[in-house]
Amino acid sequence: MRIQSLFVLFNVAIIAWSYPYEPLRVLQVGENEVMEVPESEKLNLRRRGVKFFDVTKHTSFLPFFNKEEEPTVPTYNYPPEISNKEVVDDSIKNIDKGSMHKNLAKFTSFYTRYYKSDHGFESAEWLAATIANITKDIPQDTLTIEHFDHKEWKQYSIIVRVTGSTTPEDIIIIGSHQDSINLLLPSIMAAPGADDNGSGTVTNMEALRLYTENFLKRGFRPNNTVEFHFYSAEEGGLLGSLDVFTAYAKQKKHVRAMLQQDMTGYVSDPEDEHVGIVTDYTTPALTDFIKLIINSYLSIPYRDTQCGYACSDHGSATRNGFPGSFVIESEFKKTNKYIHSTMDTLDRLSLAHMAEHTKIVLGVIIELGSWSAW
Ligand SMILES: *[C@@H]1O[C@H](CO)[C@@H](O)[C@H](O)[C@H]1NC(C)=O
Ligand SMILES: *[C@@H]1O[C@H](CO)[C@@H](O)[C@H](O)[C@H]1NC(C)=O
Repeated sequence: MRIQSLFVLFNVAIIAWSYPYEPLRVLQVGENEVMEVPESEKLNLRRRGVKFFDVTKHTSFLPFFNKEEEPTVPTYNYPPEISNKEVVDDSIKNIDKGSMHKNLAKFTSFYTRYYKSDHGFESAEWLAATIANITKDIPQDTLTIEHFDHKEWKQYSIIVRVTGSTTPEDIIIIGSHQDSINLLLPSIMAAPGADDNGSGTVTNMEALRLYTENFLKRGFRPNNTVEFHFYSAEEGGLLGSLDVFTAYAKQKKHVRAMLQQDMTGYVSDPEDEHVGIVTDYTTPALTDFIKLIINSYLSIPYRDTQCGYACSDHGSATRNGFPGSFVIESEFKKTNKYIHSTMDTLDRLSLAHMAEHTKIVLGVIIELGSWSAW
């Protein structure tokens, strides 16, 4: 008895010594693959290129994780053709690369936007204030800005909500993540995160600015609710978007479409400029609709590409039963090699390419804003 409890004590001491202050995290690294690791091991995995959902907060029954628990994503009949060409073209015309440059310069001037750092909180504060300024003339019964507090870390997610006029319960979401990371030493080294993923955030900010200027201010209002999400902590295992979509699923919200923008600015070969539309772990019917938008409104083509499991925040939508899609700067193999380092800087990006991504966002929210899900 005595020996046994000594033995237990010894083991506890060993574990405590090995992982001081490090509670285990539960990671889902594949559809049927779950592992438990200390916090510091998450970084090692990322450095080796492994992507995952950190589901620690959202699973109580592990390690007996059951895939059947994941809801299936319903298929909706998205519009087979576009019907708002004039309005969309009118907005696209006004895309301002100068404004995008200014926002990205400011956003990348934070030493890092690592979600656990004070800098990461400050960058969220700047983003929230800038969004409030962009949308300040829209009355509160139409537009609200929510600071989604994650409790475990300081950098909050931001949800901009344009409430629909006739079917506000049907929700269309545009997402991007605001955090950046230096995978070498995240708490110490710089991570300007221009492409990854400041570019997605700035692409969506510009779309929000034009949506405000050319649409809402002219008295238009979408039938469905349109939301812009700026997620915290993507780099920690999609933590921010998992919190948001898990809450939406619990509240039984009806998300009819989600489009993620993440890495929108790098062009490896200007002679062969295109966007990459991600076909794995996304929702086929929605992906087809996004292709229609690209064909209708962009001056460059798309190419199908694959990005792997838990690639970006759209994965948090689909694993909660909501349709998700993802358009990235190019075919995956041609994407920016400088991400997650001090070299992910603004001078390596193309604002014209980011503007093409902004067109996708405007096309999607204006077309789906007036679409009837039934
Ligand atoms: C708010 O936006 C206007 C342009 O619409 C700009 O001139 C002004 O500097 C902005 N203010 C802040 C605090 O960002
Ligand atoms: C969309 O809203 C407008 C008014 O804002 C209304 O006239 C129209 O019937 C609505 N469309 C649908 C499909 O509900």
